[in-house]
Amino acid sequence: MKKSQSVVIAGGGSTFTPGIVMMMLENSDRFPMKELKLYDNDGDRQAVLGEALEILLKEQAPDLKFSYTTDPKEAFSGVDFVMAHIRVGKYEMREQDEKIPLKYGIVGQETCGPGGIAYGMRSITGMLDIIDYMEEYSPEAWMLNYSNPAAIVAEACRVLRPDSKVLNICDMPVGTLRRMSQIVGKTPDELEVSYFGLNHFGWWTSVKDKESGYDYLEDIKTYVAENGYLTQVEVDTQHMDESWQATHKKAKDLLAIEPRFLPNTYLKYYFYPDYEVGLSNPTFTRANEVMNGREREVFSAARDIIARGTAENGGFHIDSHASFIVDLARAIAFNAKERMLLIVENNGAIANFDDDAMVEVPCIVGSDGPEPLSQGKIPNFERALMLQQVTVEKMVVEAYVEGSYQKLWQALSLSKIVPSAEKAKELLDDLIEANKGYWPELK
Ligand code: NAD
Ligand code: G6P
Ligand code: MN
Repeated sequence: MKKSQSVVIAGGGSTFTPGIVMMMLENSDRFPMKELKLYDNDGDRQAVLGEALEILLKEQAPDLKFSYTTDPKEAFSGVDFVMAHIRVGKYEMREQDEKIPLKYGIVGQETCGPGGIAYGMRSITGMLDIIDYMEEYSPEAWMLNYSNPAAIVAEACRVLRPDSKVLNICDMPVGTLRRMSQIVGKTPDELEVSYFGLNHFGWWTSVKDKESGYDYLEDIKTYVAENGYLTQVEVDTQHMDESWQATHKKAKDLLAIEPRFLPNTYLKYYFYPDYEVGLSNPTFTRANEVMNGREREVFSAARDIIARGTAENGGFHIDSHASFIVDLARAIAFNAKERMLLIVENNGAIANFDDDAMVEVPCIVGSDGPEPLSQGKIPNFERALMLQQVTVEKMVVEAYVEGSYQKLWQALSLSKIVPSAEKAKELLDDLIEANKGYWPELK
């Protein structure tokens, strides 16, 4: 008999919450649950999803205890897992992260470059708060964290909460593997990958058939060289908007610059920033696309369920984002020893890279957490790019801890996306102004 689990979703008002709940319902035999709670610091936002999910769960899982709250003690007591996906500053601040750099002709992105740095400075405080709640009220629990920017959040955890049971994760490799599996006519479960890099900054070195050991890398490369990761059939409900299609397609040019490996799509912001700025509309960015799209759809589906008083024929969807976090929870809860990509401290997994860097590599996950798998030595080209990027991430955390203006200026100047120290300084001053009340004071 599997022990029934108690879970709190932190960032209960997230657009991804309903998908995760639906995925849990579908997996109730693999991951049985006795209690589910939502926690958010915006009670009104969360209540819309909370009320709709209450109706849905009453119909589809009447034995599951469900509640939603803004009270940390109520939320974090008696749980086995915290699934976190908070967005400190919400879409309003994401818009700033994207639009401020674009004013300077620089890439404006949620997790990469100046936007990611600004978001990182906001996220650290929110993340430390929820980690501390978990440790106070459920010291045995694990936190599975999606909150971005995952690279900076992971480094902050390493430095500031080194003993906390927090696993930082990303769904991009999972989503892309789904595309790869379609390209070769397999299911993702039939494939096993090798991969190295940082979060949103990595490469696949093999994509093998689990059963035969055959490596599809060359076959997938042949496809990607022509089409990027664009596939013919809808593979998911996530990563489908027009801007995402352009991103999948651009992988073609990422393979052109490094033909040995298959690229993570996020590398486009580092290798083709001018192309990216050219595509961007400085007054309508991804934040606006999401507010008009996913956010509107999820919240209207919720309001519709509430108005009808039933979730029958309701509009909540499952996606690969949700399957990953549920699989991870299951691997820990039931010692499944499953292989998955996680953001962990290197400690030799990439042989010729710093031990104390937070890297993204395959790990075997069981009830003691992740065991990173050795990925051997990496070429100098990738090593140099990664060292530059990981140093940016480390310096952001140092700047946060020390309240150092100078360090944050250096971090921005070091980012491959920022062309000069002068631009970096102008940007920094703008970002400080926009992030008042969110960032620690910098001296
Ligand atoms: P969203 O704005 O819809 O949801 C975030 C929720 O967090 C909001 O309801 C907000 O009120 C809440 N929140 C903000 N600060 C909080 C705090 N300090 N404590 C508790 N709750 C807080 O955002 P979304 O688009 O659904 O994304 C949610 C998060 O998941 C983002 O950080 C996003 O970048 C991340 N995400 C990461 C991955 C990944 O690959 N790692 C994938 C998808 C989404
Ligand atoms: C990918 C990334 C995430 C990112 C997500 C949502 O899955 O891995 O880190 O948060 O996309 O992006 P979107 O622009 O759709 O909100
Ligand atoms: Mn990600």
